[in-house]
Amino acid sequence: MASTNGPGALQDSALKEEIQSFFDSAPPLRNSSEISEKLKGFIKQHSACFENGRATSIVCVTSGGTTVPLEQRCVRYIDNFSSGHRGAASTEYFIKAGYAVIFLYRRGTCQPYCGSLPDDPFLECFEFTDDAHIRAREPHSEAVKRAIGDHRVAVEKGLLLKLPFTTIFEYLQMLQMIATSVGSLGPRVMFYLAAAVSDFYVPWKSMAEHKIQSGSGPLDMRLAQVPKMLAALRKEWAPSAFCISFKLETDTEILLEKADMALKMYGMHAVVANELLTRKEEVVVVTSDEKVRVNRDKADPSNDVEDPLVKLLVDKHRAHIADSS
Ligand code: PMT
Repeated sequence: MASTNGPGALQDSALKEEIQSFFDSAPPLRNSSEISEKLKGFIKQHSACFENGRATSIVCVTSGGTTVPLEQRCVRYIDNFSSGHRGAASTEYFIKAGYAVIFLYRRGTCQPYCGSLPDDPFLECFEFTDDAHIRAREPHSEAVKRAIGDHRVAVEKGLLLKLPFTTIFEYLQMLQMIATSVGSLGPRVMFYLAAAVSDFYVPWKSMAEHKIQSGSGPLDMRLAQVPKMLAALRKEWAPSAFCISFKLETDTEILLEKADMALKMYGMHAVVANELLTRKEEVVVVTSDEKVRVNRDKADPSNDVEDPLVKLLVDKHRAHIADSS
């Protein structure tokens, strides 16, 4: 973060310390060298890639909720509602718009290109034609063909790098790794932070190692506050990137005000404000100049709000790239 004199400098250094102590005390990522290799390959492939004469843009889409383990040998954890629909659907639209996507997602949540397949019972999508072959069964065959085809094109062109996380510790370490790796690509990188990130956690060192026993009566537990990493991402990890965060509230009265605050406090380029119950129908994109309401086109039930949302943000990102050069 930029250091300033006065109270801002104090806040900056206090936050820096909090962030550092979060990372120092987090359990190390088990597969960090594998992730780092994958990232290196992806960045190398796209650092000199061009689409219609323009350098390929890269977006890191975060998706799904982070968990907060209560025990080191985790039996119980705190979770949140996020299904990962927003991140998965947006990934498809970004790829359609020519982006290469790093999809940082919670294991077990919605995946790109699977939105029109039934979750339950998934196996009913298929049937045997004989002992050795299976085919997609009606009425799902078109959706299955489209999903497999679109997914294969994205993977074969190297446009989709999927990186799974489960805990808040994994998520924040991976976000930092991604941001510091793609930072060198400058303004053509976008962060689209749709993951629902835990605000409170149990620090690893004060966490029980074994399963907490119920015999000792009611559980009394103190949760620490997860330091907000948005300012570090924006100012230190990837300072030229175009950063979009999300603001979720259940009370519409405070939603836009909170989104405005986040925009200013963390220096985001835009904050997408959404309310829990209407999040699939409407969002508001808040920037320093305007508030744009984006709605799902209800004329076609297969349309979703991520289609116009991603189009709007892609336009804003292009303007950011043009301004930066
Ligand atoms: O997954 P779906 O079911 O489709 O739902 C989509 C969604 C509602 C989860 C998504 O649209 C959304 O709003 N995601 C952000 C939810 C959230 O965590 O809001 P928040 O107000 O708690 O956090 C605001 C921003 O700060 C987020 O961009 C988050 O990534 C970031 N954050 C939060 C906590 C923290 N300690 N550090 C952070 O950086």
